[in-house]
Amino acid sequence: MKQIHKQLLSWYKEHGRHQLPWRNTEEIYHVYLSEIMLQQTQVNRVRDEYYPQFLAKFPSLEALGDAPLDDVLAAWSGLGYYRRAKNLHATAQLTKNGLPQSLKELKKLPGIGDYTASAICCFGLEQDVPVVDTNIARVLKRYYALLNTPDKIVWEKAENFVNTKAPRAHNLALMDLGSMVCTPKNPNCQECPLQKGCQGKEEAELYTQTKKKEYIAMELFFGVYIKDGKVALELSSDNMYKEMLVLPKVEPLEENFLGSFKHSYTKYKLDVKLYKVEELEGDFTFLSPDEFSSAPISSLTKKAQKFF
Ligand code: ADE
Repeated sequence: MKQIHKQLLSWYKEHGRHQLPWRNTEEIYHVYLSEIMLQQTQVNRVRDEYYPQFLAKFPSLEALGDAPLDDVLAAWSGLGYYRRAKNLHATAQLTKNGLPQSLKELKKLPGIGDYTASAICCFGLEQDVPVVDTNIARVLKRYYALLNTPDKIVWEKAENFVNTKAPRAHNLALMDLGSMVCTPKNPNCQECPLQKGCQGKEEAELYTQTKKKEYIAMELFFGVYIKDGKVALELSSDNMYKEMLVLPKVEPLEENFLGSFKHSYTKYKLDVKLYKVEELEGDFTFLSPDEFSSAPISSLTKKAQKFF
């Protein structure tokens, strides 16, 4: 095991993504924030846009907890999976004096599950704990030739495999190996520091879960109701966008068609159609175009803006 650990660490030293900002901080809040953002968003988008902007607005857990939820949702605008922002805010309100420093206590907080708790403890606090995300799971499943194996067993393998002398570098190395070498398709086994002991390398594709993403096609019809140059938005009742401001839904109309566009959101492939309406009942917030950028609205609503 010692030899494998050594090879893995030396690979990481040479090839790892050391420059990622959340790998160069001692601030546990920064590590926590990055992990929540990275759950469903690509590394480059988080690194270049959302992570620095969010930290500039909410530089501490305390500042985050003190901010109105709408401001937090506005800063999250465009990232999707808005429940993450709500949980982040709720957690900040519960932990203004600092996040707890144990797996058990972290997992009691809204939005922090097994992975995030482990990532915070390992990457933020250098604790000797296993970390399993999809990349690490793939590496371990191949290395140990685990077919159809429940997550619990993969976590156990990760725990036995962890390098107790350098848990942080070890887990980051596995993560990078999964994302750069032990990729779902065409893994580059020649470059892999774990090649020698890998039990799955001959049939690497067997250990790739390629659950085909299933999409749901849906048509959505929104009304564009403008009063005094401001457009009517309402609080979404839809779970996906809860507490975000959205255009009011209408029945499809024969006339006053403004335009349509396609939008993908999580598993939905949406065909969005917009209609101008002269009158509409409801409880609305009216926003002018320049208020859009600081409002809690989704990418879908932002996209619609160019039609009115
Ligand atoms: N470094 C630490 N955590 C990470 C993650 N979830 N994705 C990419 N790089 C990371």
